[in-house]
Amino acid sequence: MRRHTLAVLPGDGVGPEVTRAALTVLDAAQERFGFSTARTEVPLGADHYLQTGELLTDEVTASLGTADAILFGAIGSPRVTPGILERGIILELRRRMQQAINLRPVRLYEGVPTPIAGLTPARCDLVIVRENTEGAYVAQGSTVHRGTAARVAVQESVNTWYAVERAVDFAYRLASVRRKRLTLCHKTNVLVEAGALWTDVMSAVGERYPDVETDYVHVDAMCMHLPVSPERFDVVVTDNLFGDIVTDLGAVLQGGLGVAASGNLNLDGSHPSMFEPIHGSAPDIAGRGWANPAGACLSLGMMLGHLGEGEAAAAVESATAAVLADLPALAGEGMGASTQELGERIAATLTEGSAPTITGSLMSQLARVMGGDDVAW
Ligand code: NAI
Ligand code: MG
Repeated sequence: MRRHTLAVLPGDGVGPEVTRAALTVLDAAQERFGFSTARTEVPLGADHYLQTGELLTDEVTASLGTADAILFGAIGSPRVTPGILERGIILELRRRMQQAINLRPVRLYEGVPTPIAGLTPARCDLVIVRENTEGAYVAQGSTVHRGTAARVAVQESVNTWYAVERAVDFAYRLASVRRKRLTLCHKTNVLVEAGALWTDVMSAVGERYPDVETDYVHVDAMCMHLPVSPERFDVVVTDNLFGDIVTDLGAVLQGGLGVAASGNLNLDGSHPSMFEPIHGSAPDIAGRGWANPAGACLSLGMMLGHLGEGEAAAAVESATAAVLADLPALAGEGMGASTQELGERIAATLTEGSAPTITGSLMSQLARVMGGDDVAW
């Protein structure tokens, strides 16, 4: 039987609630598709930090490094100064595990309410590939004349051919198993040096993917096109900062925080990839069962695709989408069922195989993209 080792980091607030629901769905997927997982729960987060003062120790890093994948809930607590846990755990994990890209599907499922008037599922199915290690987020920068009126802050953006190429190559590869259309999103008319590097990488890598059509959109224009005509896009590749911004806009299109999923992918197999809903620990609703587990379940689906369980991945996606479509509201008391009840409902739908099949499932496309023997990175 195929067996995968998982590190599970439920984290804080609603993190453990949505993670538990996702694990219930994982149980059902294993049962139906005949694989198993060995799961190790890692208690990182506010409680652990307040008890021990520890964030991400070398020992924990080493043990996480042996997992095939990491399933992550959310981190952050009003009991800890903002930034300590988020930077010390999430960002640090992405860095140490060399998770080169952040992958964010923007797909509106049938029956899910969107704030964009007239938007239909047929028009909203794209994936944003965000470079996850550099750009403006390399955490360098400097200030001189601090504390005076002459203070100067310099915050540079770092773009290496190496990191841009691996992100762009992944994006082409994904586009080639989808609708074969890749858009570069940048601001090449102002950020000319970084822009030229990205543009040159697009052309160079593009020679390996002659059947993928390419396109370019400035990031500001992207903020207009994305809500109005998302059907223009199949795969979008962009840098760390622009990606951070446009993916939040993307999440709005697909129904918001409770629904959106993400994967932080290590592309060279040196360390595990990590999958997480995009929302935070939501301390305002923690403990009430009001968190929507869909984002966590769809992240689980991405994880399964990444592990090569393409069929299970597609089934998790369609079961989650079917349950979402039946909810009276996407969050809070109005959902009409608790987080865990929804997890059980998704699991039952998966077991019955009763959900309509989703065509072009990103979750199963990932299995094809990650699974190929000819992977070049
Ligand atoms: P948040 O995403 O936790 O919550 C924002 C709003 O969305 C809240 O009203 C919350 O109730 C609602 N919400 C979040 N997830 C939901 C779900 N699954 N279903 C229904 N409603 C949901 O963002 P916020 O409040 O800015 O941050 C809270 C904490 O989480 C902070 O400590 C923040 O730093 C941290 N955070 C952690 C992230 C992570 O672990 N990757 C990402 C974003 C924030
Ligand atoms: Mg963000």
